[in-house]
Amino acid sequence: MAPILEARDISKQYGHVEALAGANFDVNAGEVVALIGDNGAGKSTLVRIMSGTEPASSGQLIFEGKQVHLTSPVDARKLGMETVFQDLALAPHLSPVQNMYLGREVMRTGPLGRLGFMDSRSMRKGSREAFEKLGATVRNLNGPVGAMSGGQRQGIAVARAAAWAQKVIFLDEPTAALGVVQTKNVLDLIRRVSAEGIGVVFISHSMPHVMDVADRIHVMWRGRRVATYRKEDTSMEQLVAAMTGAVTQEAS
Ligand SMILES: Nc1ncnc2c1ncn2[C@@H]1O[C@H](COP(=O)(O)OP(=O)(O)O)[C@@H](O)[C@H]1O
Ligand SMILES: [Mg+2]
Repeated sequence: MAPILEARDISKQYGHVEALAGANFDVNAGEVVALIGDNGAGKSTLVRIMSGTEPASSGQLIFEGKQVHLTSPVDARKLGMETVFQDLALAPHLSPVQNMYLGREVMRTGPLGRLGFMDSRSMRKGSREAFEKLGATVRNLNGPVGAMSGGQRQGIAVARAAAWAQKVIFLDEPTAALGVVQTKNVLDLIRRVSAEGIGVVFISHSMPHVMDVADRIHVMWRGRRVATYRKEDTSMEQLVAAMTGAVTQEAS
């Protein structure tokens, strides 16, 4: 089976900082890939590049077997890829409903897209359903999200991405601000989304969560993938060892 998305030999420099140094990545349809690694390993940078938010300094992105050049997150969305960024990127002055539909004027595919953009009742209904599916409590659908708690905002961001994703969803530490129940809801949502055939890329520092939902685990160290394991063939001890750079499956 060909990966739905592949990154080959991605490098990224910020001035003298080498955030990525020949990183590889691949995710299949319907698969959950956990991306783990110590702080600064390059996980978020790789996600920003694969979601069109930033250009790579070098390397290739291959989507459904064809090389793609993403110049903005809109390009990634057009391909059916949605992202929950580590720093969230909701518009703080807009409401949950407005955030849900932000930028969708150009996106006429997807389950919510068919509801029509001019109809605010449909938008409220679509938003409410997306939040309920996640078990996210959003009491005020019309108030600014900037006034909401970190957990509520994270719930909105995850629900929005899951509602629109058709092919791939990137979740960069999506449970960092969440309580126990909301975290369980996000892990359930990851399973549900992957069962629909979507490739899920899940970044987390929680080894129990990783071992719970991942099919495969990619370990990054100093800007590149150093090891890939199938969940059933590895252990937390092995993963932690790989995160310290003690394992090198892939030559640099
Ligand atoms: N916008 C940026 N400007 C300068 N350096 C950055 C920027 N983003 C990330 N870095 C650096 O790149 C490296 C990888 O960061 P990051 O991708 O955030 O790692 P991770 O998500 O694995 O913690 C770190 O050394 C970080 O300081
Ligand atoms: Mg990060």
